Amino acid sequence: MCKRVPELVRPELLSLAPVAHGSVALEELRAHGLTPLDVLDFSVNTNPLGPAPCVQRALCETNWGRYPGDDELPLRQQLAEINNVSEHQVLVGNGSVDLMWWTLLAAVRPGDSVAVAEHTFGEYARAARAVGAQVVGMQHASPARVLFLCQPNNPTGEYRTGADVERLLGHTPDRLLVLDEAYAAFVAERWPAEQLLAAHPNLIILRSMTKDHALPGLRLGYLLASSPVARAVAAVRPPWNVNAGALRAGLAALTPEAQLHVQHAREIAADSRAYLTRELTRLGFSVTPSAANFLLVDVGDGPALRRALLPMRMVVRDCTSFGLPACVRIACRLRAECERLIAALEEVKRV
Ligand SMILES: Cc1ncc(COP(=O)(O)O)c(C=O)c1O
Repeated sequence: MCKRVPELVRPELLSLAPVAHGSVALEELRAHGLTPLDVLDFSVNTNPLGPAPCVQRALCETNWGRYPGDDELPLRQQLAEINNVSEHQVLVGNGSVDLMWWTLLAAVRPGDSVAVAEHTFGEYARAARAVGAQVVGMQHASPARVLFLCQPNNPTGEYRTGADVERLLGHTPDRLLVLDEAYAAFVAERWPAEQLLAAHPNLIILRSMTKDHALPGLRLGYLLASSPVARAVAAVRPPWNVNAGALRAGLAALTPEAQLHVQHAREIAADSRAYLTRELTRLGFSVTPSAANFLLVDVGDGPALRRALLPMRMVVRDCTSFGLPACVRIACRLRAECERLIAALEEVKRV
């Protein structure tokens, strides 16, 4: 019976492993007698302030008794206005990951390759393989159908200049460049990638309202692209892929109150990034310069440090799945929380 399964499905999918993501499983916490509320989670890089009160209120006002959709066009229209594009260039998704998958489904043909950088977000490669593409490194990007650039890069925090991205777009006019700006809202000196859309129909920008507004459980992201590309991606999107609460929250997230909240979070991230860089360096760790709301830190043995911190009620991201087992990734949370992490690391170093 089992032997026949590969005939029923594409056999290569049976060996496609899930990607490790941040945070910590309930089961792992239980082994330490802990719940999610007991730990400070530095392995997830969402807004350290949580959602703005107006976003939370909007969620409470959601009408769950109707199929979602009433708020979709107004949300797309507002996102279009903010980004100075037309509503036909905007799509919303169940998190930005959703839109990554639909983009690949819309673009990839049999035999195509997809280019992904070496140490970056794991879903690009997994989604590419799931749609039947071959994954290649950026150095082999020229024949690739789609290129992924994480901006700033997870986990290194590297943030490319506009000139750099524009050069890449110019070199690859007949290939899609997906610029994943999941963490761009936390970059202090950000350049407006949406301004490149008019001249570059091969550009797709992904943004994560999940990260900006600390709603990873709700899921909301959006895509900006040229109208024909957005139309093709919309064609492979299942109906109702964004729930009514996420659409409501999305509208509230664009109000001045919520935008001020994100600005405040960006300032906190900058302060905590400077503090953590200084203190981690003082403790003898090597910190990669980062423009993002997280830091890649070489600690010698990432899994061991994660294990040591968990009983102390702190979680950091072991970077083994990024191909960096000597490193952990640490989110730039509130200053007082970062101070607790530094105290815990001092303790770990003492024993
Ligand atoms: C680079 C990057 N892009 C996208 C995502 C997913 O974002 P969303 O929750 O909007 O799907 C993540 C989540 O870890 C990420 O690290």
